Amino acid sequence: MAKSYLEKLNLGEVLKPEDWEAYLIETHHRAPGMSPEAFAHLKNSDGHNSYEELVHKISGSPTTILDLACGDGYLVEKLAHRFPQSKYIGLDMSEGELAVARERNIPSAVEWIHGRAQALPLGDNSVEVITCHMAFMLMQPIEPVLKEIARVLKLGGKFMSVIGSPENAGSFDEEVRKVMSGFFMEHIPEIKNVVTGDKRVKTKEELSGLLKPVGLTLETVEDQNFETTGTPEEFWQITKNMYFIDLLSPSHRSALKQCILDLAKNHADSSGELTFGYRRRFLTIVI
Ligand SMILES: C[S@@+](CC[C@H](N)C(=O)[O-])C[C@H]1O[C@@H](n2cnc3c(N)ncnc32)[C@H](O)[C@@H]1O
Repeated sequence: MAKSYLEKLNLGEVLKPEDWEAYLIETHHRAPGMSPEAFAHLKNSDGHNSYEELVHKISGSPTTILDLACGDGYLVEKLAHRFPQSKYIGLDMSEGELAVARERNIPSAVEWIHGRAQALPLGDNSVEVITCHMAFMLMQPIEPVLKEIARVLKLGGKFMSVIGSPENAGSFDEEVRKVMSGFFMEHIPEIKNVVTGDKRVKTKEELSGLLKPVGLTLETVEDQNFETTGTPEEFWQITKNMYFIDLLSPSHRSALKQCILDLAKNHADSSGELTFGYRRRFLTIVI
């Protein structure tokens, strides 16, 4: 039987991009819908969640929209609400997520495709807008993805992506990140060897350098905070879906939950609630 991601990690094996993809597929198969479950409640100052903000940023009336790494189809449903006449393609490498997406009742024309961003089964110059919510920074290798984006986009088309910002959303977010990484280093130290995508997409200069050879240009970069107010337990409910928490043993997961709850309680006000959230980066890339 093939070794699991955790077994390979524990054995100190050098993990390849295909191991990372296998981990993502396994995790999303176990918990389809985990992304909107974690992200959709968090709002920016205009009251939009990060999916809604991405939709809001699209102008005109695109004929065809590809949602790259569409997950369970939450964004496609939002897009179809705003642009009902458009034709949609939702592509993801997780069959588990796509099974949930196919069950959505979306009145617009949608084609759900099981595939990888590195090899899009789509024609040249066939799409006006490509959206990608919280997945671009997970893709490795990234170069073939960019080549595919440049190939399928129509001239004047746009790739509009939301990624995690390299900046944190504030002091609580920073503390949570420190606690999490300390916890993982203690319990799964091999995790330091894991490559979770291509970090170059997070800096303007490096991203521009990746885009140039395929004829793409970084048009805008904008960071926004997405926040909500809730109890420490509600904070844990959005945190528990983070990658790698599923690799912890049940007892370590309970211990991490306790650490996070204690930290959140320290930040709660007299009503027992605190404000928490993430900082997201919106990228507009043009051809
Ligand atoms: C954090 S989830 C985001 C899902 C969805 N876009 C959302 O925000 O609700 C990341 C998604 O990217 C998909 N994914 C990651 N790398 C991919 C690749 N190279 N090709 C296709 N899908 C990929 C995963 O299967 C997963 O569904």
